[in-house]
Order: sequence, then C-alpha cells, then structure tokens
Amino acid sequence: MPKSVRITIDLLKVGHYVSSLDLSWLDTPFLTHRFHIRSMEDIHKLRNAGVLSLFIDPERSTVDKLHEETSSQNQILVSPENTSIDCQEVLPDRIIRSVGEIHRHMVVLFKKFFREARNNDVMIDMSPIKFAMDRVIEVSLNYPEALLLISSLQEEDDEIYFHSVNTMFLAFYLAWKLDKSFDETVIWGLSGLLHDIGKVRIDPYVLHKPGALQPHEWEIIRNHPQWGADIIRRQTSLPPIVSRVAMEHHCRMDDTGYPDHLLFESTEALSKIISVLDIYDALTSDRSYRKGHPLPKALKILVEMSQGKIDPYWVATFIHAVGVYPIGSILEIDEGEVGVVVERTSPGEPDSIGDTFRLAILRDKNKFPTRKAEFRSFSWNPSRKAPVSSSYNHAEWGVDWEIVSDVFQSLTRRKTSC
Ligand SMILES: [Fe+2]
Repeated sequence: MPKSVRITIDLLKVGHYVSSLDLSWLDTPFLTHRFHIRSMEDIHKLRNAGVLSLFIDPERSTVDKLHEETSSQNQILVSPENTSIDCQEVLPDRIIRSVGEIHRHMVVLFKKFFREARNNDVMIDMSPIKFAMDRVIEVSLNYPEALLLISSLQEEDDEIYFHSVNTMFLAFYLAWKLDKSFDETVIWGLSGLLHDIGKVRIDPYVLHKPGALQPHEWEIIRNHPQWGADIIRRQTSLPPIVSRVAMEHHCRMDDTGYPDHLLFESTEALSKIISVLDIYDALTSDRSYRKGHPLPKALKILVEMSQGKIDPYWVATFIHAVGVYPIGSILEIDEGEVGVVVERTSPGEPDSIGDTFRLAILRDKNKFPTRKAEFRSFSWNPSRKAPVSSSYNHAEWGVDWEIVSDVFQSLTRRKTSC
C-alpha cells in the first residue's frame, strides 16, 4: 500500500488520516497538517480554507476499505521522493541533511524577504517562510538536537541572513525544551528570524564595516530596532509580539542598550529571550574581522552579561537547555584528544546542574586525524569538573562537518533501533 495518497476533497471521509496539505498551515484553521478527520466539520473547515486536494496516509486511516475507495481515477499515487519533506517519512540518517537543507533554503527565503522589505509600499508575502518553518518544526521533532548542531555551523558569507536563521533555530530548540505549544514555537521562531530585519535600511557600507564605527555610524545602527518594528507592523500581518521583539531586543538592564526610551522591566519576556539567543549566536559566529568564540566560552560571557545587562533567568534557562558543553562544541580533553560534542543527556531535574555529553574524537593525542569514529562519554557537575582542557572555534581544527553529520546520523540511527 502506498505511504501517501493524494485524493480530491470530495473523497475525504471521517477517519482518514491527513498527512499533508498543499496550503500553508497559516492559511488553514488547523495547527498542523497531520491529523485524523474526526467529524464532518473538519471536512467543512478544509473546504472553506480552499483545499481542493490533499494527501492521506492509508495505513493510519481508519476508514473501511480505504484502499479500494481511494483507488479511483481521482487519486494520484505519490512516491516518497516526490512528497514534501515529512517527519514521518524522513529516515533518521537524513535528519541532519534535511535540517541543513532547510536551513540553507530558509537563508535563501530570508534574503528575498530582506529585498522585499526595502520597498516600503509592499506587503510582504510570509507564506513561503511560514511553510518552510512548518517543515523545520516537523523534521526536527524527533531530533531537536539537529537544530543546535546546524546552528553551530559557520558560513562567513551572508552573515546577517545566517545569523537570523540561526537565531530562529535556537528559538525553536529552546521552545521545544520548554514544552511550548506549536503556536508559541512558531512565534518564537518568527521573532528570532525577524529581530534584525530593520538592518535592511542601514547603508551596506556601515552595516558591513569591519573596523570600529564612528559615532554618527553608531547612531544609524541604533535605529534598526525601531525600523524593524515599523517594517513588521506595516508590511506583514504578523502578531504584534513579533514587532515588539524587533523593537526591544537591544534593551539592556543597565540602560546601555537602545532605543533610549525603553525600560527593561517593561519589555516582553520573548524580547529578553531573543536578546540572549541573538548575543549567543553573535558571539559564536565567525565574522570577516574575527573568529567566533568557542560555544562554552560564549556561555561564560552570557553569564557575565547576566550580572546587569541581560536577563539572568533566561540566561540560566538557556544554559540549562543546551548544557555547559553544547552540541557542536569542539573540545580538547585532558589526554590531548580533540573532539566534537554530538550527544548530551541532562539529569532531568529542572534545578540540577551538570550533564553527560558524548564526544566524537576527531584528533588523536598527537593531533592527527582519527581514522575511525571513536566516542568518549563525560559527566560534568559542579563538584566534578569535566576533563576538558580547552574549547575551540571549529575553524581551528578544520573540522569536517560532513564527517560530524555522519557521526550524528549513526547515533540517531542507533537510538531509533533501540
Ligand atoms: Fe539587532
């Protein structure tokens, strides 16, 4: 029996399991595109949303003689390669590449969004971005750690676009760790993606200037929160919270942030969260004029900033979510080997500190590349320091991320088969 079958809306019955719609989820009254049809009202809702045909999963449907019913001329059999990316259908060994592909696709979409935002008179079509976000959430549902690994990868080009998409991935990951609803997760992701959209109005010379900025250039930069909020409010139909985050993401507890008129106590919790993620990604990312900090060092800097600049509660929550040695960290252990963190298990209790992480060894004691994958597990807690002597920016050891992806895949494959 085929895994996905396309049928016309006329053939849809109570008991069918819908596996995909041709419309963006924002254009339908359903929060996801994977659900059972429970009543005639569900069918009416789909019709009213303009759905003409849809995919169903015969194996998960509970309609009698489904196969016979759907084998009429109205159905189109779909091979797995031709379906859209589907959490149910993606094999574990494709997770990393799928999330990576969506990341790249999202960067391309965001570039287009950026260009459209330059034209003040145009309402921006959000549907391609929302559709891609839907896929990110679905694909990463079983392996959210893939979001962390992908967001730790580096591209020196197009840093604004990568930074925006990375911030979105981090927001998704944190929302997942905190058990946020699907709707909230989407809002967190959109707020991360669009927090810097106001930079579209900054002269590229100022925006990409590698050296120190002149006072008058800083004044221009300080306008981007207000500009971003204006663009989101006037050129999209997104909820007001998204423009508030754009407005507030540089607000600081000690009044060193901007815009000047904002009070930190009055800002939204989501603005405080996106501030933390924004700074973390900026610290860990390579720039044309400097290399990014190692991930554990960036977390230390966040802790320092939480003493008066950014919200300490959300810094602690973020570190608890990603661990002291986040997935993607490049570490040298006391014995001299160098590896990348590919797996992490936290203790589970919300207030406990410390965790266990697994390192894929990439360089042996003599710093020669290892010939086959080797793993070492370490525990960390405040009373027993992990045997880590240094952490690095990934460029320092020329990490081959293709190999890291393969390692990650083998771990996810093993987990699935357990
Ligand atoms: Fe910003």
